[in-house]
Amino acid sequence: MHYGPRAFLSIQAKRRDPFAQLLVGPRRGIEPYPAIERIRGRGRVVHTPFAWVTADHEICRTILRDNRFIASPPEELDLPRPLPWVLSKTDPKITNPVEPPSMLMIDPPEHTRHRHAVARTFTPRAIGQLHGRVEQLTDQLLDELAAKQRPDLIRDFALQLPAAVISEILGMPEEHRPQMLEWGESGAPLLDLGLSWRTFQRAMAGLRSADDYLSAHIERLRAAPGDNLLSELVANDELSKRELMSTASLLIGAGFETTVNLIGAGFVLLAAHPDQLAMLRADPTRWPAAVDEILRFDSPVQMTARTAGCDIELAGKRIPEGAMIVPLIGGANRDPGVFADPDIFDISRSNAKEHLSFGSGIHSCLGASLARMEGAIALQALFDRFPDLRLDGQPKRRALVTLRGYDSLPVTLAPSD
Ligand code: HEM
Repeated sequence: MHYGPRAFLSIQAKRRDPFAQLLVGPRRGIEPYPAIERIRGRGRVVHTPFAWVTADHEICRTILRDNRFIASPPEELDLPRPLPWVLSKTDPKITNPVEPPSMLMIDPPEHTRHRHAVARTFTPRAIGQLHGRVEQLTDQLLDELAAKQRPDLIRDFALQLPAAVISEILGMPEEHRPQMLEWGESGAPLLDLGLSWRTFQRAMAGLRSADDYLSAHIERLRAAPGDNLLSELVANDELSKRELMSTASLLIGAGFETTVNLIGAGFVLLAAHPDQLAMLRADPTRWPAAVDEILRFDSPVQMTARTAGCDIELAGKRIPEGAMIVPLIGGANRDPGVFADPDIFDISRSNAKEHLSFGSGIHSCLGASLARMEGAIALQALFDRFPDLRLDGQPKRRALVTLRGYDSLPVTLAPSD
């Protein structure tokens, strides 16, 4: 059974199914937490017409760590799959970060081999070496921000830093960066279940253009390797050309928009909580903890999905083989059983790091330490450079469900007097 979920979900949303409301309701992507709390109120694991769903921290973690819940739904299971996923199969040659052989969408043993090959280049040492470069790029971007007439924190800073870092990891020249920004922008909605046909077509056009680019780019790096992680991965010769393209497109898909959202959410939260910002100014060693609290409070990735590979008993419910289950990461991060007063933003909370914003288990985020580093460097440098930085207009949310962030944050850098 294959169907486009949007119309179906709209009917469910009208019937007040809280999961459908989260996916397609009027506050879709803007204010997810009331619907998440309604789901939590219905139980630890909730059966909805579209999928099983949970906002329970322990259950989310269990699902992500239990390999009976698989990332790649076997083709022989006749699963209800969102229309875009089905349609993307009409062009199976296109590298799609949310289709195999993307490591995010495969299971052991292929996942183990693929992930090890990438992790061998993406080492803590290699990431640590990027520290100075991230500081340098941040300073440069803040200089450029200072020169803007009407600065927008997303467009002029939060988007630019992760884009620059990922393009350096991939060995992409600076002049190709705008193209990458376009792929990130058009591709992000692919993670949502209820996207429109127009958005889907734009995303597929982006994937097609990224596909052509990455294929030629990998051959360029094979012929003339540079000092970057993708060149190393190509030279190691452990992944096929298609796997290399898939890894590069996943790094763009998973590592770019998410970090933009961390920086954007961090700015909004700290601007709205001057007491917390004052604590950071008094003691800058608190920045890493603050980044974890930002990640907990407003997770840039709000949900993921798995398929039950067999019948599985979970919190007294039987999840049948082939059923889709959605761990609501943003909900797990606000589980009152784990985080006291979860709706309060508090950088001094002792267990913020227990958030699931980077997932858990074998698919846990490969770029977590890079993202934490970028978030801390960017936000600290931003508030240090512009002590009077504040919002100057309405923040505009991106109306996406899976990836949570802002489209636009108009700011004033200094008092106008
Ligand atoms: C996986 C979140 C930044 C690369 C994941 C997953 C989450 C996540 C939740 C697991 C998804 C699942 O289990 O279904 C984030 C957040 C980020 C971030 C919130 C920033 C704040 C990055 C960066 C990179 C990256 C900077 C690399 C440059 C990856 C990769 C995977 C992944 C390769 C797939 C791992 C696997 O399947 O084995 N990320 N991520 N991420 N992330 Fe990130």
